[in-house]
Amino acid sequence: MQSGLIDSQGRHVSYLRVSVTDRCDMRCLYCMAEEMEFLPRDDVLTFAELDRICTVFIHRGVRRIRLTGGEPLVRRGIDGFVRELGRWTTGSAPAKLDELTLTTNGTQLPVHATALRAAGVRRINVSMDSLDPARFASITRRGTLERTIAGIHAAREAGLEVRVNTVVMRGVNDDELDRLIAWCGEVGADLCLIETMPMGETGDDRTEHYLPLGEVRRDLAQKWHLVPLTDRSAGPARYMRVEETGRRLGFITPLSHDFCATCNRVRVSCTGQLYTCLGSDGAVDLRRILREGGTDDDLLTAINLALAFKPARHDFFIPQEGQDVRGPTRLMNVTGG
Ligand code: GTP
Ligand code: 5AD
Ligand code: SF4
Repeated sequence: MQSGLIDSQGRHVSYLRVSVTDRCDMRCLYCMAEEMEFLPRDDVLTFAELDRICTVFIHRGVRRIRLTGGEPLVRRGIDGFVRELGRWTTGSAPAKLDELTLTTNGTQLPVHATALRAAGVRRINVSMDSLDPARFASITRRGTLERTIAGIHAAREAGLEVRVNTVVMRGVNDDELDRLIAWCGEVGADLCLIETMPMGETGDDRTEHYLPLGEVRRDLAQKWHLVPLTDRSAGPARYMRVEETGRRLGFITPLSHDFCATCNRVRVSCTGQLYTCLGSDGAVDLRRILREGGTDDDLLTAINLALAFKPARHDFFIPQEGQDVRGPTRLMNVTGG
């Protein structure tokens, strides 16, 4: 029996987020700067390197892997990588994945949805912050609503469950949450509302846009019949069922109500940095070990070292009167959330 991964707070790590690229065909306000210089390709781990890291984690008890980016589906060869990882979804315990999934902006789903389903992916999260075309374009700076919606439809048609992710920003999109709930009901998708987290300098004013979701939930409960669900799927979202649509509505509240005490996850960036917390900059360099010919045991030693220093909670900071929000200096697109 393999021993599991446990941090110094006694939290079991069974979930790995893997960013496969820092690149993206959008530039969402809260994620990237308008002008981005992307990493040189040699800095980014090859699929073989990523696969090796995933394999070590799976052998040590990781049961769920979520691929992120940037936009994971813009990386050439991604279907093959997902298919490779998919072998673990049909394996037998103890080395087996219960879930292989990804978070995407949806633009490439018409091309990839069927291959993802065939590889063992069952549900995906798609970012969509507005149903208004002009607003969608200004939030994503480069995206079009039509393409993301086409992606969501393609995913549903391929048999994938979809959760729409909406980062709620005061004065930007907080007036269209009812419409998003109804729309998701119509297409058969869950919806998850997310507080904007201050990661790096993106040109977005986080103080102005931060909206605590407790307020939002109270408002929505006046208009919708929301039934709390106890199943949190061991993730950050707290879910309610919307009786009128039959779909789930999730709330991710890292700033107003964090979920760090039950955190089950770590993340590997596309450059092979192991971040044990989204909300702090500390990392262990797995790429160096890989590229200097290290063994799987060397990787495991580094992973265990990182876990010993996994922070009890993130560094994101709720602004009081006159203060600014605070968070890590790196941008979201490198670690993928
Ligand atoms: P599950 O895999 O079902 O738990 O989904 P998820 O909600 O973790 O995945 P997704 O990629 O859709 O992320 C939704 C939001 O949650 C994004 O804003 C992420 O940055 C955020 N998030 C995910 N994990 C963490 C975490 O450990 N800490 C914090 N603060 N935010 C997280
Ligand atoms: N705060 C909150 N969520 C973010 N995401 C990207 N940047 C941020 C941020 N600064 C979300 C995306 C996507 C998920 C991976 O993370 O919208 O749905
Ligand atoms: Fe791209 Fe997602 Fe970042 Fe938007 S949030 S720029 S879609 S990686």
